[in-house]
Amino acid sequence: MPTFKLDGREIPFEKGDSIIQAARRAGVDIPHYCWHPGLSVAANCRMCLVEMLPPPGRKPLLLDVLEWDAEKEDYVPAKKPKLVPACQQAAGEGMEVASDSSEHVARARAAVQELLLLNHPVDCPICDQAGECRLQDYWLEHQGTKKRMKDEIVHKPKGVVFGPTIVYDAERCIVCTRCVRFCEEVVKDPVLEKRERGNLSEITLAPGRELDHGYTLMTEYVCPVGALTARDFRFKARVWFLRSAQTVCTGCATGCNAFTDFDPRDQTVYRYRPRENMAVNRYWMCDDGMLDYRRIHENRVLEARVRGKKTSFEDALEKARGILAAAPAEQLGVVLSAQHSNEDNFAILRLCRDYLGTGHIYVSGRAQGLGDPVLKHADRNPNTAGVTALCTSTPPKTFSELAKDIHEGRITHVLSLGSYSSDAEKTDALTRLQGLVTLATHEGPLAKHATVVLPTSSWAECDGTFVNAKGMAQESEKAVAPRGHSEPAWRLAGHLARALGFPMAWTKLSQVRKAMAPEAGASVAMISGAEA
Ligand code: SF4
Ligand code: SF4
Ligand code: FES
Repeated sequence: MPTFKLDGREIPFEKGDSIIQAARRAGVDIPHYCWHPGLSVAANCRMCLVEMLPPPGRKPLLLDVLEWDAEKEDYVPAKKPKLVPACQQAAGEGMEVASDSSEHVARARAAVQELLLLNHPVDCPICDQAGECRLQDYWLEHQGTKKRMKDEIVHKPKGVVFGPTIVYDAERCIVCTRCVRFCEEVVKDPVLEKRERGNLSEITLAPGRELDHGYTLMTEYVCPVGALTARDFRFKARVWFLRSAQTVCTGCATGCNAFTDFDPRDQTVYRYRPRENMAVNRYWMCDDGMLDYRRIHENRVLEARVRGKKTSFEDALEKARGILAAAPAEQLGVVLSAQHSNEDNFAILRLCRDYLGTGHIYVSGRAQGLGDPVLKHADRNPNTAGVTALCTSTPPKTFSELAKDIHEGRITHVLSLGSYSSDAEKTDALTRLQGLVTLATHEGPLAKHATVVLPTSSWAECDGTFVNAKGMAQESEKAVAPRGHSEPAWRLAGHLARALGFPMAWTKLSQVRKAMAPEAGASVAMISGAEA
């Protein structure tokens, strides 16, 4: 692989790499605002300027400039090398580039920072980007001086509602055009544009439009400063109080890699952010996915119920045991959940198929939605492929087939994982069951009609593996503690098995994974497509 030198260190590069790209792959960060690895190069912020050192024996290319001489209190003629933007300059074999080691680069970075902050309101105390803002970080790293301009700043529109999800503050905007390029290049909806020039520049909406495509929160996320803020997140939390778990989005079968940001003090999840994985979602997530964190807290089943009345966990467990013990194996159905992890599904499957002896296996989940050409899959469940892979002998039947089997008297009892019905029209069939035990994270038809409901932890409250539509098994980390009296479904399966007298005494997730591995093999084994 060809290499070039950056501050004396050999950096390998691939044909077509810019200096900043190759450096990033090697783990070296060159400061930048406008460059984003997933967008075209605009090279407008000039924060990434680097010095190209001349080959041995050659003179550097120098520019004539005027420099302020503090002793003479006047400008004097001087020379400086012509710096180049690392985001635009292609890497070349044998190049020598100076970044952190160049005094000229350090001065350029400080000057760019000072220029960007010249008219900036510096309202960090009330800005939602504070704590993860590049203007703050780079001021500390590359500037560190006070504002010299004493005049009133150029005022621009603030609090501009760009659409149902995003608010724009033109005074905070550094006009890097990342948001414009994201809408145009990734979403293919050029709804944003730049208007005016110089310090009057600002981002504006296309005439008659709102920022309302399916990737508005991602448009906000690519903004390196606090100019775009999400109405969903603004003024809710300070990012330095948040911790992040590495998770997988449960919004659809694409399985985008995400960070789940939560406050450990109140065990509340505040947002999802994309986590880079070039094999799955690259750098992006869709709005539906980024807002799907709300389901962790909304419409949850938090207590055990028997025939609609709250009861103790022990009472509900005993009633569930009674229903399952009395159910004839040939009339017992098990409903797996495409919303739940492999581990949860495997535990329920093992209990029902191998110990209770049923051969009637169904799968349910959220009903189909609309996909798009960017990321979104029409299957709004994260683990349809995982459930299918676990059912090694015959594929699971659908919820509609379950309704038919109940109507025709083939199924009289059901143990269901999850409460979603993938066919809302057919839920009436559940009223004909003689016994329905539902392990539910959320309210839904299967919890509503259940004889016994056991509160179940959501994907954010336990570790789990999900297989996306491409067949990639990906692990999702636990973020917060189980809500209410809920427990992970694999653990509830263990409680039920013990109550029924079966030797399935799993108390740790590792035991479930060990038991699952030989059965489902590589199809549910964890693989990682993460590039960096
Ligand atoms: S709103 Fe943000 S992303 Fe868009 S141009 Fe301004 S600073 Fe850049
Ligand atoms: S495309 Fe699917 S997996 Fe990706 S963020 Fe959207 S809902 Fe989540
Ligand atoms: S990152 Fe903005 S000019 Fe290179």
